[in-house]
Amino acid sequence: MTTTASLDTLSAVRQRRTVPLTALSDRPIPEDTLLELLTAAQWAPNHGLTQPWRFAVFTGAGRERLADVLADSLALHKGAESATPEAVETQRTNQLKAPAWIMVAAQTPEGSKLPPFEDDWATAAAIQNLLLAARAVGLGSKWISNAASMHPHTMQALGFEAGCRPIGLIYLGYVDGEWPQGQRGEATDRVRWFRES
Ligand SMILES: Cc1cc2nc3c(=O)[nH]c(=O)nc-3n(C[C@H](O)[C@H](O)[C@H](O)COP(=O)(O)O)c2cc1C
Repeated sequence: MTTTASLDTLSAVRQRRTVPLTALSDRPIPEDTLLELLTAAQWAPNHGLTQPWRFAVFTGAGRERLADVLADSLALHKGAESATPEAVETQRTNQLKAPAWIMVAAQTPEGSKLPPFEDDWATAAAIQNLLLAARAVGLGSKWISNAASMHPHTMQALGFEAGCRPIGLIYLGYVDGEWPQGQRGEATDRVRWFRES
């Protein structure tokens, strides 16, 4: 596997940004690079070593399959009348604006004595690892949780095992031009310290 990471951890944390689809180039992402990001995800903390994360990766023409499934899920969510040919076409066009999409779900092993929400949290941590690794190799990303991506039909139609819970739909792409600016308050506004006198 090629190691392409170029940013140190804190720079990747500070510079990771949600990038709109319109700011992405259509340059394909090498599969080696995607595998590197998925490997970073694999190293997230997870209670009981359940490794609960499951990924489905869509590139090239594979993105059309994702678009069709999301269009169907949206129709199930909003009502069949919303699945106009234009709406389906918009979905397909959007899907092709990012070179790679990853559907992420959490699975709790049968008989696990730990609460399933811990597997959801671990999977969210895996996503964050992936997004930071993406930033380190120069890729913009977005974590999406809209109704279509979170719909049970999406899980089932994409072949996730029964019981898998959707955690996020991610897209990735090289950024054409400027990265968007981030916005955050001061950490001190959200922290209380308990110190010995
Ligand atoms: C759990 C989760 C779900 C999200 N879902 C969406 C979404 O459905 N649509 C969207 O536009 N952004 C979504 N985002 C991205 C946030 O809008 C984004 O992180 C926020 O605007 C801060 O920008 P930044 O990521 O550049 O710091 C989601 C982020 C998280 C963590």
